[in-house]
Amino acid sequence: MDLRQRILAAFRQRFGVNPEFVARAPGRVNLLGEHVDYNEGFVLPAAIDRVTLVAFQKSRSPLSTLLALDLGEETSFDRQSVHDRQDSNGAVLSFWARYPAGVLWAINAEELDTPGMQAVFASDVPRGAGLSSSASVEMAFGVAWEKLGGWTLAPIHLAKIGLKAEIDYVGLNCGIMDQFASACGVKDRLLFLDCRSLEWQAVCLPKKTVIVIADTSVRRSLKSSTYNERHAACAEAVRILQEYIPGVRSLRDVSPSQFHRYANRLPDIVAKRAQHVVEEIARTRQSIKLLENNDAVQFGQLMNACHSSLRDLYDVSCPELDTMVALARKLPGCYGARLTGAGFGGCTVNLVAGEAADLFARDLAAGYTQETGLKSEIYICHATDGAGVEMD
Ligand code: GLA
Repeated sequence: MDLRQRILAAFRQRFGVNPEFVARAPGRVNLLGEHVDYNEGFVLPAAIDRVTLVAFQKSRSPLSTLLALDLGEETSFDRQSVHDRQDSNGAVLSFWARYPAGVLWAINAEELDTPGMQAVFASDVPRGAGLSSSASVEMAFGVAWEKLGGWTLAPIHLAKIGLKAEIDYVGLNCGIMDQFASACGVKDRLLFLDCRSLEWQAVCLPKKTVIVIADTSVRRSLKSSTYNERHAACAEAVRILQEYIPGVRSLRDVSPSQFHRYANRLPDIVAKRAQHVVEEIARTRQSIKLLENNDAVQFGQLMNACHSSLRDLYDVSCPELDTMVALARKLPGCYGARLTGAGFGGCTVNLVAGEAADLFARDLAAGYTQETGLKSEIYICHATDGAGVEMD
């Protein structure tokens, strides 16, 4: 049974009727601009054809009842209990429930209505794989409450609500890239976002290339603490560099040459983290011209440089990701390969010549198993539209 049929069947079983609506929100893959969104840099993600679906309808009370089909768990909460970070029985919200609850909380902070909802949801975005399963849950519930509440927000505004939920409710000091891509995705396009102004444009992949995602099957243990540590190192770099360079608000304001002039004023680890960010922002800026010129070769080299930087300077790779990347680069048709998302496990993203992609996927999977003894999932990924609601 496909995802949609599964949630519809589970909804009927749980609530005794067909749901009125189905919300859909995609995960994302990022091609360039890793760990720069929370430094006001530029990112280049795409929404992918892996999604979270929520079957839902208004409930007759202010209580929302949510069944997480993938986990076989259910929770109920209302506005007040969510404010207290509890379910309706007064128990602490389980980890997964904090995402929809956080979205409800952030919507309420804007004084928008969130009627009680009956919902069943499930996802084929793998969890902990660097493809933004949590943002897809947030944005799916965001558009679901938008529907029931009878208000409308621009998708980028909904992304900001998701970001607020993630930072202030869940506790991850992330940037806006994931929620943005899930909310604003455009079919067959990459999204080039300025994380400072939030201006963005949809851009094409180089002609005759495709995106291939390779899942190492290693699940990251992305503790908020590890991610938040990276965030804190960037903040420290800014604080110190402000003493030397006027007008620096974030690492976005530091050019690579300025950085190298003052790098020795920073503690070693902080300098490595900041160097990655400053150079990665420059790479992403540069990539836009390359895309306009259909220059897959140079673009792929930026992806490769990004991986080395994430591995050596930002320290967020792992042996399996490095193996997957090294194997990919040896295969015909591969322009660039790197880890995607926060790192510490999960997936790589590969830019591959369209005609070579099937063989590439087959040989990469075989090579990876031979080298690591692990299974992988490797597939051509199609960029999709952002979150939305359909009638059942
Ligand atoms: C996670 C965060 C994003 C971004 C990436 C790394 O996916 O949620 O905001 O920082 O890591 O680029």
